[in-house]
Amino acid sequence: AMKELKGTKGGHLIVSVATTANYFVTQLLAEFSRQHEGIHVTLDVTNRHMLLDQLENHEPDMVIMGEPPKSHGLQSERLMANPLVMIAPPNHPLTNVPPPISLADVMEERFIVREKDSGTRSAIERHVHKHGTSCKNMLEMRSNETIKHAVEAGLGLGIVSMHTIQPELDSGRLVMLDVEHFPIQRHWHIVMRKGKRLSPIAQEFKRFVMQEAPRFVKNLAAR
Ligand code: PGA
Repeated sequence: AMKELKGTKGGHLIVSVATTANYFVTQLLAEFSRQHEGIHVTLDVTNRHMLLDQLENHEPDMVIMGEPPKSHGLQSERLMANPLVMIAPPNHPLTNVPPPISLADVMEERFIVREKDSGTRSAIERHVHKHGTSCKNMLEMRSNETIKHAVEAGLGLGIVSMHTIQPELDSGRLVMLDVEHFPIQRHWHIVMRKGKRLSPIAQEFKRFVMQEAPRFVKNLAAR
């Protein structure tokens, strides 16, 4: 039945994604819309808390996000790895410390972190807590772009999805720090409401994402 759907024309696709998935999802959408003339796409890019609200309210066909909650009447499929890495400006003193840098030591630094409703933020807090430490000096910002700029400017360290920093790594504006217990291993998921009946175009998009997303991230890494 899947085969017959190939090349579906038209239709309205409503997708919401985590702010950190934005980077590869826009590339996926560009390719998908080249293959499907006349589709109408509504894309929203927001944080974990808002994504769960939207699912609750039956708004999007599907959501691409980090680890979804177990309850909530949701069904999810694991898409691919989403490592969270620690970033610093290239001239930071910690780049001269023999790796791996101790987690307890690095937690003495100031960190630029996302807002409380962010999935990235809660993953970081859970992870460092599990390893018996916490971040005392935090500066909060609502966007990944702002965090990257702040880290570049020397305001503090950051912990972000590796899928959001390739251009900065390539150009040498940011470096990844080799810290013990890092990267934090997370995964992207495609999430929808339990029993959701997808339109043909939404089914096709989901299949496309499951198949193609890892390639788009690899392209990013190989650039
Ligand atoms: P967020 O995205 O940090 O923008 O909420 C990641 C996630 O969904 O976990």
